[in-house]
Amino acid sequence: MIYSKILGTGAYLPEKILTNADMEKIVDTTHDWIVERTGIHQRHIAAEHETALTMAEKASRQAMTDAGITPAEIGMIIIATTTPEKMFPSTACLLQQRLGIAGCPAFDLNSTACAGFMYALSIADQYIKSGAIKSALVIGSEVMSRVVDWSDRTTCVLFGDGAGAVVIGASQEPGVLSTHLHADGTHKDVLSLPVSIGKPMDVEGALYIQMTGNQLFKLAVNILGDLFDETLKANGLKKSDINWLVPHQANIRIIQSMAKKLDLDMDQVAITLPDQGNTSSASIPLALDKAIRDGRIKRGDMLLLEGFGGGLAWGSALIKY
Ligand SMILES: CC(C)(COP(=O)(O)OP(=O)(O)OC[C@H]1O[C@@H](n2cnc3c(N)ncnc32)[C@H](O)[C@@H]1OP(=O)(O)O)[C@@H](O)C(=O)NCCC(=O)NCCS
Repeated sequence: MIYSKILGTGAYLPEKILTNADMEKIVDTTHDWIVERTGIHQRHIAAEHETALTMAEKASRQAMTDAGITPAEIGMIIIATTTPEKMFPSTACLLQQRLGIAGCPAFDLNSTACAGFMYALSIADQYIKSGAIKSALVIGSEVMSRVVDWSDRTTCVLFGDGAGAVVIGASQEPGVLSTHLHADGTHKDVLSLPVSIGKPMDVEGALYIQMTGNQLFKLAVNILGDLFDETLKANGLKKSDINWLVPHQANIRIIQSMAKKLDLDMDQVAITLPDQGNTSSASIPLALDKAIRDGRIKRGDMLLLEGFGGGLAWGSALIKY
């Protein structure tokens, strides 16, 4: 049996930070409201010259160094991003060119939003498991600051910019044990970025994220609860077998309720939300990288990764690190 194993991780966060005190000067909000309702204290914001591509390159190079692998050995590049460099060529092709390699498949997952990293990881895992490729670079990279309406307090306080990357490679040792992906378009209006190519905008502010936060909150709690049951059942595991939850970082109250669902203490949850906000498809690899780099997640630990976002789309992975 071939598994895909995490060989290395990398991260990049822009230097500029916007604190909640800074947000108070931009919209009618308070530090206390943001912390109490979301858990966010600050977020990183890309400089003018930074893009999903430049951040993906930095995170990827760090992940490849960590994995001890050269760009020439990469068998596939997938970038999950709702904020791509261009419609096409893909950000992944542009990264491939910057890495000085050619030939391996390279593509973006643009529309799976905050669930993007789970979709990208699942696809790369299937290719490795089937023996079609030996390694993959899986990235989440987002400049959310360019798609939020900075006059809308209900969304602009939530998001941040950054990139996280993971190198996975074929192994005889257990690694990614299973991945589970789902979508339900009946909830299409709960979270969207409804700009349409070549069409007049049919929604006011279509260039910006539209979200019905409280509805999404309830949906997320329900779908993630079911997703955990499905993931554990597929592997014949109990909650107590899980060492770490590595969740999408959208709201601390959602994360706390997921930890409770799994009977995990909050110190068994990889959290970056207070410092980074919601970085969409970058949030899971960023949280994973942080907890691995500071030594909390150790080889042999059982990790449950989960993400959800616009679509709705959601997914999980169970990984023996
Ligand atoms: C967005 C979210 C933080 C809002 O928290 P909430 O407790 O649901 O709050 P509500 O949306 O019900 O709004 C409550 C009040 O706070 C106000 N409010 C919203 N944003 C505010 C802000 N930044 N500062 C101060 N008040 C704010 C609302 O206008 C509303 O006021 P009203 O009662 O006078 O109408 C929360 O719903 C959430 O995180 N949802 C999930 C979002 C998510 O997961 N997004 C990413 C998916 S990838």
